[in-house]
Amino acid sequence: MKGSKVEIVQVLDKKFTPYINQEEIAELVTRVAKEVSRDLRNEKPIFLPVLNGSFMFASDLMKQLGFPAELSFIKFSSYQNTETTGTVKELIGFERSMKGRTVVVIEDIVDTGYTMQTLIQTLKEKEAKQVKVVTLFSKPEARKVEVPIDYLGMEIGNNFIVGYGLDYNGEGRNLPCIYELVKD
Ligand code: IMP
Ligand code: MG
Repeated sequence: MKGSKVEIVQVLDKKFTPYINQEEIAELVTRVAKEVSRDLRNEKPIFLPVLNGSFMFASDLMKQLGFPAELSFIKFSSYQNTETTGTVKELIGFERSMKGRTVVVIEDIVDTGYTMQTLIQTLKEKEAKQVKVVTLFSKPEARKVEVPIDYLGMEIGNNFIVGYGLDYNGEGRNLPCIYELVKD
């Protein structure tokens, strides 16, 4: 954000305005990394970043843990169930056993909470010893189901954001800072 000029970014059909700059993001990530490292380094945790949104956060966070850790990416694949009208989400990518492990889920943002609820349930079924949730952002006003958040970068209002891993219809994940939607 050079000078006082606000640089509006166009992502597909929407305009976005700068919201959280790179320095502020770096501070959030460093604080969270310290907390996670302090609490969990002796647990030999397995880190599970949820693709695609958490790729940038996970990368920066993992570099700052200060201990060698295990990492495995997971992803939700959405598809239309022909039997019912609802959208069914399936979790893919579990390469390792979660049984008896301390599992640290890394998310970009917790919005309604449905994604995290499904993930925690799945990890319980896979007999994880404990599940810890790390998320860079949370939108408490948007929550539909309560989910535990153990480590949080910051709470934000109920506005749509892009950048630093987060997308708008597939675009904008590469933006180095966070932009928020300009409402028309
Ligand atoms: P939830 O299941 O509603 O909690 O949604 C979580 C997922 O929705 C996140 O991991 C993001 O991928 C996506 N999401 C929620 N809010 C935003 C946003 O403001 N911008 C981009 N993606 C979002
Ligand atoms: Mg996500």
